[in-house]
Amino acid sequence: MKLGRLNHIGVATPSIADSIVFYRDVMGATKIHEPFDLESQGVKVCFVDTPAHSTGSGLSDSGGTQIELVEPLPGNTSIASFLEKNPAGGQHHMCYEVPDIHAAKAEFEAMGKRVLGEPRIGAHGTLIFFVHPRDMGGVLTEIMETPKDEAHLSN
Ligand code: CO
Repeated sequence: MKLGRLNHIGVATPSIADSIVFYRDVMGATKIHEPFDLESQGVKVCFVDTPAHSTGSGLSDSGGTQIELVEPLPGNTSIASFLEKNPAGGQHHMCYEVPDIHAAKAEFEAMGKRVLGEPRIGAHGTLIFFVHPRDMGGVLTEIMETPKDEAHLSN
Protein backbone atom coordinates (compact mmCIF):
# COMPACT_ATOMS: atom_id res chain seq x y z
CA MET A 1 0.00 0.00 0.00
CA LYS A 2 1.22 3.47 -0.93
CA LEU A 3 -0.63 6.29 0.83
CA GLY A 4 -2.47 8.47 -1.66
CA ARG A 5 -4.20 11.84 -1.57
CA LEU A 6 -6.71 12.43 1.23
CA ASN A 7 -9.79 12.83 -0.98
CA HIS A 8 -12.34 13.55 1.72
CA ILE A 9 -13.30 13.27 5.35
CA GLY A 10 -16.75 11.79 5.91
CA VAL A 11 -18.92 13.54 8.47
CA ALA A 12 -22.23 12.00 9.49
CA THR A 13 -25.02 14.45 10.14
CA PRO A 14 -28.71 14.23 11.03
CA SER A 15 -29.35 17.12 8.62
CA ILE A 16 -27.31 18.03 5.56
CA ALA A 17 -29.34 21.24 5.31
CA ASP A 18 -28.25 22.30 8.80
CA SER A 19 -24.65 21.23 8.15
CA ILE A 20 -24.52 23.32 4.96
CA VAL A 21 -25.47 26.38 7.02
CA PHE A 22 -22.72 25.50 9.52
CA TYR A 23 -19.98 25.06 6.89
CA ARG A 24 -21.08 28.21 5.06
CA ASP A 25 -21.65 30.57 7.98
CA VAL A 26 -19.28 29.28 10.67
CA MET A 27 -16.47 27.77 8.59
CA GLY A 28 -16.69 30.15 5.63
CA ALA A 29 -17.01 27.51 2.94
CA THR A 30 -17.60 29.12 -0.46
CA LYS A 31 -17.94 26.00 -2.61
CA ILE A 32 -20.70 23.66 -1.46
CA HIS A 33 -21.92 21.15 -4.02
CA GLU A 34 -25.53 20.14 -4.63
CA PRO A 35 -26.61 17.33 -2.26
CA PHE A 36 -27.63 14.07 -3.95
CA ASP A 37 -28.95 10.66 -3.00
CA LEU A 38 -26.54 7.75 -3.27
CA GLU A 39 -29.29 5.13 -3.22
CA SER A 40 -26.94 2.14 -3.41
CA GLN A 41 -25.38 3.15 -0.07
CA GLY A 42 -28.62 4.36 1.50
CA VAL A 43 -27.32 7.88 2.05
CA LYS A 44 -27.74 11.47 0.96
CA VAL A 45 -24.36 13.08 0.31
CA CYS A 46 -23.07 16.63 -0.01
CA PHE A 47 -19.48 17.66 -0.75
CA VAL A 48 -17.95 20.82 0.69
CA ASP A 49 -14.68 21.93 -0.91
CA THR A 50 -11.71 23.12 1.04
CA PRO A 51 -9.16 25.13 -0.97
CA ALA A 52 -6.02 23.35 -2.15
CA HIS A 53 -3.90 26.27 -0.94
CA SER A 54 -4.19 28.90 1.74
CA THR A 55 -6.01 32.11 0.90
CA GLY A 56 -3.71 34.66 -0.66
CA SER A 57 -1.15 32.14 -1.86
CA GLY A 58 -2.04 32.99 -5.45
CA LEU A 59 -2.22 29.29 -6.28
CA SER A 60 -5.21 27.36 -7.58
CA ASP A 61 -8.20 27.09 -5.28
CA SER A 62 -9.46 23.75 -6.56
CA GLY A 63 -8.35 20.25 -5.79
CA GLY A 64 -8.36 20.49 -2.01
CA THR A 65 -9.60 17.79 0.31
CA GLN A 66 -13.37 17.75 0.66
CA ILE A 67 -15.76 17.26 3.53
CA GLU A 68 -18.37 14.63 2.66
CA LEU A 69 -21.57 15.25 4.59
CA VAL A 70 -23.51 12.01 4.95
CA GLU A 71 -27.13 11.79 6.04
CA PRO A 72 -28.99 8.47 6.24
CA LEU A 73 -31.86 7.78 3.86
CA PRO A 74 -34.86 5.88 5.25
CA GLY A 75 -33.92 2.25 5.87
CA ASN A 76 -30.22 2.98 6.35
CA THR A 77 -28.79 1.19 9.38
CA SER A 78 -25.06 1.96 9.56
CA ILE A 79 -25.21 5.77 9.52
CA ALA A 80 -28.45 5.73 11.51
CA SER A 81 -26.83 3.72 14.31
CA PHE A 82 -23.79 6.02 14.24
CA LEU A 83 -26.17 8.93 14.79
CA GLU A 84 -27.86 7.10 17.66
CA LYS A 85 -24.49 7.11 19.43
CA ASN A 86 -23.60 10.61 18.17
CA PRO A 87 -26.89 12.50 17.90
CA ALA A 88 -25.27 15.76 16.74
CA GLY A 89 -23.29 13.90 14.07
CA GLY A 90 -19.52 13.52 13.93
CA GLN A 91 -16.45 12.40 12.04
CA HIS A 92 -17.32 9.10 10.36
CA HIS A 93 -14.55 8.06 7.94
CA MET A 94 -11.48 9.18 6.00
CA CYS A 95 -11.04 8.48 2.30
CA TYR A 96 -7.72 8.04 0.49
CA GLU A 97 -7.18 7.71 -3.23
CA VAL A 98 -5.35 4.82 -4.87
CA PRO A 99 -4.50 4.28 -8.56
CA ASP A 100 -5.89 0.71 -8.68
CA ILE A 101 -8.76 -0.32 -6.40
CA HIS A 102 -8.42 -4.07 -6.95
CA ALA A 103 -4.68 -4.01 -6.25
CA ALA A 104 -5.31 -2.01 -3.07
CA LYS A 105 -7.96 -4.48 -1.89
CA ALA A 106 -5.57 -7.39 -2.43
CA GLU A 107 -2.84 -5.57 -0.51
CA PHE A 108 -5.07 -4.83 2.49
CA GLU A 109 -6.31 -8.41 2.56
CA ALA A 110 -2.75 -9.72 2.36
CA MET A 111 -2.02 -7.66 5.49
CA GLY A 112 -4.99 -9.27 7.26
CA LYS A 113 -7.18 -6.15 7.15
CA ARG A 114 -10.92 -6.71 6.93
CA VAL A 115 -12.23 -5.22 3.69
CA LEU A 116 -15.97 -4.60 4.01
CA GLY A 117 -17.60 -5.95 0.86
CA GLU A 118 -16.61 -5.83 -2.77
CA PRO A 119 -15.52 -2.61 -4.53
CA ARG A 120 -18.58 -0.61 -5.54
CA ILE A 121 -19.34 2.76 -7.10
CA GLY A 122 -18.92 5.56 -4.56
CA ALA A 123 -20.04 9.17 -4.36
CA HIS A 124 -17.45 10.34 -6.90
CA GLY A 125 -18.46 7.70 -9.44
CA THR A 126 -15.34 5.57 -9.06
CA LEU A 127 -14.89 2.27 -7.23
CA ILE A 128 -14.51 2.37 -3.44
CA PHE A 129 -14.33 -0.01 -0.51
CA PHE A 130 -14.16 0.41 3.26
CA VAL A 131 -11.71 -1.18 5.69
CA HIS A 132 -12.83 -2.11 9.20
CA PRO A 133 -11.90 0.53 11.80
CA ARG A 134 -10.67 -2.14 14.24
CA ASP A 135 -7.92 -3.01 11.77
CA MET A 136 -7.14 0.67 11.05
CA GLY A 137 -6.32 2.25 14.40
CA GLY A 138 -9.97 3.01 15.05
CA VAL A 139 -10.57 4.91 11.82
CA LEU A 140 -13.18 3.65 9.36
CA THR A 141 -11.15 4.00 6.16
CA GLU A 142 -12.53 4.40 2.64
CA ILE A 143 -10.26 3.58 -0.28
CA MET A 144 -11.23 5.17 -3.57
CA GLU A 145 -9.88 4.77 -7.07
CA THR A 146 -8.63 8.13 -8.34
CA PRO A 147 -10.96 9.51 -11.03
CA LYS A 148 -9.37 9.26 -14.47
CA ASP A 149 -10.35 12.86 -15.21
CA GLU A 150 -10.65 15.77 -12.82
CA ALA A 151 -14.44 16.08 -13.27
CA HIS A 152 -14.98 15.30 -9.58
CA LEU A 153 -13.30 18.59 -8.71
CA SER A 154 -15.64 20.79 -10.68
CA ASN A 155 -19.07 19.15 -10.68
CO1 CO B 1 -16.79 8.81 1.74
